[in-house]
Amino acid sequence: MGSYNGRRPKFLFTHFLVLLITMMFVLTVILTFTLLTTDHCKCHSSELLSAVKQSHLNKHILRSSPYKLAVLVPFRDRFDELLIFAPYIHKFLNNQGIEHTVFILNQIDGYRFNRASLINVGYLQTKHNYDYIAMHDVDLLPLNTNLSYAYPKQQPFHVAAPHLHPRYHYEKFVGGILLVNRDHFGLVNGMSNKYWGWGLEDDEFFVRLRDANLNVTRPENITTGTHNTFKHIHDRHHRKRDTVKCYNQREVTRRRDRQTGLHNVNYTISSIREMTIDSAPLTVLNIELICDHKLTPWCDCNDLKINGKHKEQTRKINLST
Ligand SMILES: *[C@@H]1O[C@H](CO)[C@@H](O)[C@H](O)[C@H]1NC(C)=O
Ligand SMILES: *[C@@H]1O[C@H](CO)[C@@H](O)[C@H](O)[C@H]1NC(C)=O
Ligand SMILES: *[C@@H]1O[C@H](CO)[C@@H](O)[C@H](O)[C@H]1NC(C)=O
Ligand SMILES: *[C@@H]1O[C@H](CO)[C@@H](O)[C@H](O)[C@H]1NC(C)=O
Repeated sequence: MGSYNGRRPKFLFTHFLVLLITMMFVLTVILTFTLLTTDHCKCHSSELLSAVKQSHLNKHILRSSPYKLAVLVPFRDRFDELLIFAPYIHKFLNNQGIEHTVFILNQIDGYRFNRASLINVGYLQTKHNYDYIAMHDVDLLPLNTNLSYAYPKQQPFHVAAPHLHPRYHYEKFVGGILLVNRDHFGLVNGMSNKYWGWGLEDDEFFVRLRDANLNVTRPENITTGTHNTFKHIHDRHHRKRDTVKCYNQREVTRRRDRQTGLHNVNYTISSIREMTIDSAPLTVLNIELICDHKLTPWCDCNDLKINGKHKEQTRKINLST
């Protein structure tokens, strides 16, 4: 028994040692596995991210031309239209092999909507990285796949031509969708900054192009017509246009503007957001336009509201500058 008693601590010690080694081994295995798994997870998620980015890039591989297009979309409060537009135009342009980015020019200041100034801002923000722009309404979808968005080398190209547009059929119409290369847009000093509220800024731009001897070209050999070449997703009853005129806006906006353009559009970019809608990438520029109230007091007609009515032409603006 004595020997038994004598061996007992040694037996216990060996037992303990084996147990310790086993536990350490198990612990090491667990730890290693855990570390490997976390490492694998981290690695996996970043791989996943770059794979997503890569898939966006991969879509750009089958390019038909070396030119890059900035799709400039003047925007305010049209979220439902954007949800349809962004994935649609991304796919349409990819099918034509056109490398592009969709820029949503979101006007966030309190002034009236100024489509032309937003396009000036979009151009200035993108001109170093893109060869041409598409001035693009958010509510107009090209249906006919033969409508080309190719680089307009010689002349601006008016995709939404009067003989195809669902609503506007006058010969000088250049609104809706217009492709202009970087040099031509710079040459005409962009668009006028005087057009606050809806309408006429594209007619003034037509005169700028004509004065620079640029003739707009248009799609040919399109077999579809005014009802099935484009889809107009604008609901006129739901979204009222801002057609108010105050001060002498009516008079001024009928004239060719030689005072304002790319060189003096005044704004700040408050933020830039990257988003995707149904995996279609887009860039939102949140833009605050700054109004020169002496030059264009009609950027805000509300200060003239008297008994709910707008007093027109109460203040004449000096036109002879
Ligand atoms: C596009 O043009 C091709 C060749 O001219 C023609 O065969 C095809 O029908 C056109 N497609 C549409 C949708 O107009
Ligand atoms: C544009 O058209 C006008 C009149 O038809 C012509 O004189 C002028 O040369 C054209 N410009 C270009 C660049 O083709
Ligand atoms: C349109 O069709 C005519 C006649 O078939 C052809 O000569 C011309 O090149 C075509 N234009 C375009 C822009 O495809
Ligand atoms: C832009 O607006 C700011 C703030 O109102 C003003 O100080 C500045 O002179 C304006 N710049 C131009 C080019 O009009």
